[in-house]
Amino acid sequence: MINESLKIQNVVIVGTGLMGTGIAQVAIESGVNVTVVGRTEEKCNSTKAKISTGLARSAKKKFADSEETQSKYVESALANLEFATDLADINLAESDLIVEAIVENLKVKQKLFSDLERVVSDKCIFATNTSSFQLKDVSCKLGRQDNFAGLHFFNPVPAMKLVEVVRGDETSDEVYDALFSFCQRLGKTPVRCKDTPGFIVNRLLIPYLLDAMKMAERGDAEIKDIDTAMKLGTSYPMGPFELLDYIGLDTMKFIVDGWHQRYPEDEKFVPCAMLDRLVSEGKLGKKTGEGFMKYDSTPRRG
Ligand code: NAI
Repeated sequence: MINESLKIQNVVIVGTGLMGTGIAQVAIESGVNVTVVGRTEEKCNSTKAKISTGLARSAKKKFADSEETQSKYVESALANLEFATDLADINLAESDLIVEAIVENLKVKQKLFSDLERVVSDKCIFATNTSSFQLKDVSCKLGRQDNFAGLHFFNPVPAMKLVEVVRGDETSDEVYDALFSFCQRLGKTPVRCKDTPGFIVNRLLIPYLLDAMKMAERGDAEIKDIDTAMKLGTSYPMGPFELLDYIGLDTMKFIVDGWHQRYPEDEKFVPCAMLDRLVSEGKLGKKTGEGFMKYDSTPRRG
């Protein structure tokens, strides 16, 4: 049973990239009040446009027969959405949950949470969407640890059912249960996991993606053949290179470099030149219009 004080209704999402946009969309569709924090007005406007497109797609699926119902659905979801470019402009005292979905950089994440801790109320829960850091590293500068947990959503958030709800060593039962219920309210399937590197999915997935790149680098097989083989041979919906482009090669590089630094002896986390080269050329995958493959759509900036 969740304590009344931990019911989650007012949510702040920091980050206007792939993940912040997706989390905001599913939350407003579920009747949650959301304020998205972006670094510039331009980023906020472009995120609002993306969310509107996502909502229209979702409405079309739900109410194929009625354009009027579709418009009402989109309108009512958008009524739950606000934007801010400055934390000072948000009523943080009323916020029940802050979801951090900014760049995978430990120092930047630590600073954001330290800034937030000074201004939020005691009831506010902090959640990080980090893919690769341990919670204890993200939260180490904070005075409170019991209100801190991981909400690891998957990309694209509107389509992916899973959320790993990560329990830190000191996360309270109340906070953990409130987050678990919150994910269910968003229509997701939460799973419980502990604060270990990569949690469940990435701990298994990242070494696999690295191996695929190393296989192509050695010339053992072509990229397109590796993708086809893994799709048809295992029934995975995407091949490893398609998935890498989808995740974002910069995010992948952050993860690999971080784990390699922390576990230099572990062969599974040794970086690969192919990934480093594409990132240095700004080819970050779907979001920039090119990664391992080229994409027709307009390049997307986070
Ligand atoms: P993204 O690159 O699409 O967006 C990053 C966001 O961080 C942008 O809004 C950008 O403006 C902001 N940002 C960049 N530098 C910043 C700074 N110095 N201060 C404040 N904000 C800054 O990245 P994406 O994919 O949305 O990832 C966000 C988080 O979610 C990362 O921690 C990532 O590891 C995690 N994640 C990513 C997944 C993926 O498949 N892309 C899946 C699950 C988690």
